[in-house]
Amino acid sequence: MGTLGHRAAIVGAGHTRFGVLDAGPRTLLRNAVDGAFASVDRGAERRRVGEAFLATLGFGGWQIGNASAVLDEEAGLVGVPTTRVENACASGGFALRAGVRALEEGRTDLVLVAGVEKMTDLRAPRRRYWLGVSGDTEWERLAGLTFAGVYGLIASDYVHRYPSARDALAEVAVKNHENGSRNPNAHFQKRILREDVLRATRVADPLGLFDCCPVSDGAAALLLARADRAREFTDTPVYIDGLGAGSDRLAVQERPDLTRFTATQRAAEEAFRDAELARDRIHLLEVHDCFTIAELIEYEAMGLTPEGQGARAILEGWTEKDGRLPVNPSGGLKSKGHPVGATGVSMHVMASKQVIGQAGEMQIPNAALAGIMNMGGAAVANFVSILEPLRR
Ligand code: COA
Repeated sequence: MGTLGHRAAIVGAGHTRFGVLDAGPRTLLRNAVDGAFASVDRGAERRRVGEAFLATLGFGGWQIGNASAVLDEEAGLVGVPTTRVENACASGGFALRAGVRALEEGRTDLVLVAGVEKMTDLRAPRRRYWLGVSGDTEWERLAGLTFAGVYGLIASDYVHRYPSARDALAEVAVKNHENGSRNPNAHFQKRILREDVLRATRVADPLGLFDCCPVSDGAAALLLARADRAREFTDTPVYIDGLGAGSDRLAVQERPDLTRFTATQRAAEEAFRDAELARDRIHLLEVHDCFTIAELIEYEAMGLTPEGQGARAILEGWTEKDGRLPVNPSGGLKSKGHPVGATGVSMHVMASKQVIGQAGEMQIPNAALAGIMNMGGAAVANFVSILEPLRR
């Protein structure tokens, strides 16, 4: 048994549509949290929630300080101790980790973890500014390097070393749009062709429009219970079997190798060790494809292929919906969308539905063990979890 494994289970999950939405962050949060409570088949009273965690970057500065009070108000939890967790795009994963710790330490039996971001109501220059705040200030942001620019540098280096990767990047985008076409909550629900990816406007060479995730609004929420109380709430708990985390230097220029996500690798090792599980037992992965190159390098960091061979995983169809290890059956960030603070929470909503067979048209047959990789910045903050519906 892992050190954290089986101390917590997901007993409720809610998710708004992701995309360009009229609703503001309060409404998005309220809808996701209401969805999470409504999903609990044996019912969960709000007064049983003893602690809450809110994942948000606060894009656009909507609530720079004290954002957690907004979650309490919208969730009907005023009075409950609530903490905001900000680890850029990995805020959601790290908020879930904090929620598991709260249960593990016996502070409460039931925890709410919610993530939200409202991103699309800003004009393009302000969006670029707010996307940039999670990068290194001195060497990247003030020098004009955007996130797409950082990943463009990583992709250039990778494609230079491994030329087959250019085709592989296009196939990652095609796969994730194909998967997202089956996700009713996805920002984009349209299929694209390889030619669309290769002919699209360049954003940061070699990355084009379809190599990038979009800027999206949305929220997601989870109810976590102590594992030994989970069946009081639901007949279909999803146990959090393993957790791993790791961080890397902020500025990519200070890394010895741009094309290796070593902290992702460490987080994955810890999560599989914690779950006492061999990697080949996993049935599906939701990973952080903020840019197509990120998904490719994550194949390597998660141990799916040796270093430099990530292209094989997509070119040989392993990570397709019907492949040996489907990756991002939800459409991933590329197609489902990426409202920063909501993303890590959303990944757990999507994967938990898969392992209990409630993923609708996205369902992977017989999926019973899922891995999640949520990343902040260019593999700076890294979070990995393992989910399964059975208590081993
Ligand atoms: N993939 C596919 N289509 C996209 C898209 C994407 N990533 N981004 C925008 N579009 C589409 C829009 O839906 C719109 O289509 P329409 O004309 O049919 O309505 C069109 O492209 C123009 O949209 P717009 O919002 O004006 O695009 P943009 O040029 O301002 O932004 C990017 C495009 C790629 C620069 C922007 O999506 C972006 O910055 N993405 C990365 C976000 C990011 O860095 N997140 C953090 C990751 S660490």
